Amino acid sequence: MRHSPDHITVAHLRQHKGLRSMLVAAMLLAMPGAATAADVERGAALAEQWCNACHSVGREPPRQFDAGPMFADLAKQDEAYLETAIRRPHDFMPEFPRLDDTDLADLVAYIRTVE
Ligand code: HEC
Repeated sequence: MRHSPDHITVAHLRQHKGLRSMLVAAMLLAMPGAATAADVERGAALAEQWCNACHSVGREPPRQFDAGPMFADLAKQDEAYLETAIRRPHDFMPEFPRLDDTDLADLVAYIRTVE
C-alpha cells in the first residue's frame, strides 16, 4: 500500500464538502410539507406574523419600527447563533410569542434562506 496521507486528506475534505452541500440541497427540497425537516414556508409565515413589526423579514420594510436587523443580513449566521439570538429576550419584545422548538427551527430555516 502506498502512503500519501496528504492526498487522502484533501480527497476526504472534498468529499465531505460535497456531501454537506448535497445534504443541504436535499433538506431544502424536502422542506415543503415535510413533518420532520424544518419548514421554511411555515417559518416565513411565523416571521411575517411575529417578527415583521421590527425586522425586514424579506424584501418589505418592517411594519412598525425599524428596530431590528434585516433578516437578509442575518441569513449568513449559523443555526446555533440564530436560535440563541431569537431566544434571548430583546428589550423591544414585550409580547414575544412562546416559540417552541419547531417554531424556532422553522424560523431559523426561513431566515437562512432570505436574500
Ligand atoms: C418589537 C420589535 C421586535 C420584534 C417583534 C422582533 N425583534 Fe428581533 N430584534 C429587535 C431588535 C431591536 C434587535 C436588536 C437588538 C437586540 O439584539 O436586542 C433584534 C435582534 C434580533 C436578532 C439578533 C441579531 C444579532 O445579530 O444579534 C435576531 C436573530 C432576531 N432579532 C430575530 C427575531 C425573530 C425571529 C423575531 C420574530 C419571532 C423577532 N426578532 C421579533 C426587535 C424585534
